[in-house]
Amino acid sequence: MTSKKHQKLIQEQMDYYSGRANEYDQWFLRQGRYDKGEDENLVWFNEVESLRAKLAALAPLNNVLELACGTGLWTAELLNISKNITAVDGSEEMIAVNRNKFNSKKINYIHANLFEWHPQKKYDLIFFSFWLSHVPPEKFTDFWQMVMESLTPNGQVFFIDSLYTQESTASNQMLRDEKDTIVSRVLNDGSEYEIVKVFYDPDQLQKDLNNIGWKIKVKTSGKYFLYGHGRKN
Ligand SMILES: C[S@@+](CC[C@H](N)C(=O)[O-])C[C@H]1O[C@@H](n2cnc3c(N)ncnc32)[C@H](O)[C@@H]1O
Repeated sequence: MTSKKHQKLIQEQMDYYSGRANEYDQWFLRQGRYDKGEDENLVWFNEVESLRAKLAALAPLNNVLELACGTGLWTAELLNISKNITAVDGSEEMIAVNRNKFNSKKINYIHANLFEWHPQKKYDLIFFSFWLSHVPPEKFTDFWQMVMESLTPNGQVFFIDSLYTQESTASNQMLRDEKDTIVSRVLNDGSEYEIVKVFYDPDQLQKDLNNIGWKIKVKTSGKYFLYGHGRKN
């Protein structure tokens, strides 16, 4: 892909999330076109609960960096376990939803494109949920380098992302082949966007991270999510 096409894709991804900011939580809360029925929703919520408990176990923390904070579905958990949060996102609309939810002096919001942004200080925990899958494969190593440079010597990384399963996405969005990294997404108003979505195999991801200097274990919560937790090697 040429760098112009690349930039267009990254911009389109930010535009997509800006347009989605006010309907984003429906996905997480399994509402509307994301409602897969009581039993399936329960599987989802139980897995979310198990991830929450894992994150809560990292308390107490001082300075946390949340990359691609979105509407704050996980900022809520980080607020419980840390003194300060720097929350970065490329969409002002997402930041506005997040800010209005918590109205907290503990959170410092930064509106920035994460492919151009570098932190000014080091953090004890760097957290990102449903972000790694939106990092284009050609930017994977640079992204992790930025994370590495932003950690205190004993700092930790915790991330959560999607496993490849049709039940995760909206009923009017079919997943393409697992190997396709560019997917089409539709908002409630029918508008369509192309974005990056990479589905990782947990074992392969763990190996790839080990190869670039990380000691991170990547596991699954069951059907819906993978999560990684660890430190620099
Ligand atoms: C799938 S959402 C995840 C939000 C949140 N972490 C969560 O778990 O609910 C992806 C987020 O990445 C943000 N984003 C997309 N492209 C970005 C970029 N280039 N730089 C910074 N943020 C970006 C979007 O605005 C959106 O909030």
